[in-house]
Amino acid sequence: MDGKMPQVNGRQGEWRRQNSTAICERFPTFALSDLMGKNKLAHFAEMKVLRCAIEPEKEEYIPGRHSLSGNWGKDFFGNDNPITLELGCGKGEYAIALARKYPDRNFIGVDVKGARLWRGCKTVEEEGLPNVAFLRIRIEFVHHFFHPGEVEHIWLTFSDPQPKDKKETKRLSGKHFLRRYAKFLAPGGRVHLKTDSSFLYHATHETIAKGEHCLLFDTADLYGEGLERLDADRRDLLQVKTFYEQKFLAQNKPIHYLCFTLNDRLNKNI
Ligand SMILES: C[S@@+](CC[C@H](N)C(=O)[O-])C[C@H]1O[C@@H](n2cnc3c(N)ncnc32)[C@H](O)[C@@H]1O
Repeated sequence: MDGKMPQVNGRQGEWRRQNSTAICERFPTFALSDLMGKNKLAHFAEMKVLRCAIEPEKEEYIPGRHSLSGNWGKDFFGNDNPITLELGCGKGEYAIALARKYPDRNFIGVDVKGARLWRGCKTVEEEGLPNVAFLRIRIEFVHHFFHPGEVEHIWLTFSDPQPKDKKETKRLSGKHFLRRYAKFLAPGGRVHLKTDSSFLYHATHETIAKGEHCLLFDTADLYGEGLERLDADRRDLLQVKTFYEQKFLAQNKPIHYLCFTLNDRLNKNI
C-alpha cells in the first residue's frame, strides 16, 4: 500500500457503490467519500428513506418478486388511477411535470442513475406530490416490476440513440425492449418517443414498420408543424421540456415525436 490515490477513470462518471466499496477495501486509507464525493453519498443515503424512491434489492429482480409488482396502485399510490412510466427519466422532469398537470394519474420515473433520481425525488418530496414514484433499476428488467396491463403509457424522453447497436439490444425503442414493454402495457397502451436524434427517430420508425406496430402520430418537427396537428390537451402535454430537451433546443435542434401502440402479437409471444 503506497498511500497513492487509486486511479479513477473520470469518464466513468457516476461511481457504482459496489465498485467504490471494493476500491476502499483494497486501499483502506481512503474513505468511500474520497471517491464518490460526500454529497453523492449523502444523496444515496437519503434515497433509502425517501418514500417516493424505490430501489429494489438484487433478489427482488426475479419476475413478480417485488411486492409492488402488480400492486403499484393499491400499495403505493392508494388508488387505481392509470399509470404512466417515463423510462430513462434522468431527473424526472417529465414525470413530475405531468404529475402536476394530471393529479388523477400516477407517474413512475425509471432510471439507473441514483444521483439524477435523487433530484427528482427531492422535488417530489418538497412539493408533496402524491402521484409520483421513482424506480431505480436497469430498464432491461422493467417487465419484472409490473404485471400484465398495469401500465397505460410509456414515455421515452431523449433516450440515448445507441447508433452502434445493430442488434437493438440497448436502444430503448428497439425490438427487444418493445417485447418487454408488451408484457405489462395495457391493451391499446401507448409508447411515446421524444428525441432530438434523427437517427433514433428513423431507427424507431423502422422498428415500428418491421414489427407492424401501429403508428398514431409522427412528426419530425414537433414545435414546427407538429403542434398544429394536436388537440389542446396533447399540445400541453408535449410542451413539457426535460433537462436534455432544453439543452437540445438551445442548440436549435428540431424535436421529433412518435406515438404508437404495440402489435398485439407481442403479447401473445408470437
Ligand atoms: C440522455 S439522458 C435523458 C434523461 C431525461 N429523460 C431527459 O430528457 O433529461 C438518458 C437517461 O437514460 C438512462 N438510461 C439509459 N439506458 C438505461 C438503462 N438501460 N437502464 C436505466 N436507465 C437508462 C440514463 O441513466 C440517463 O439518465
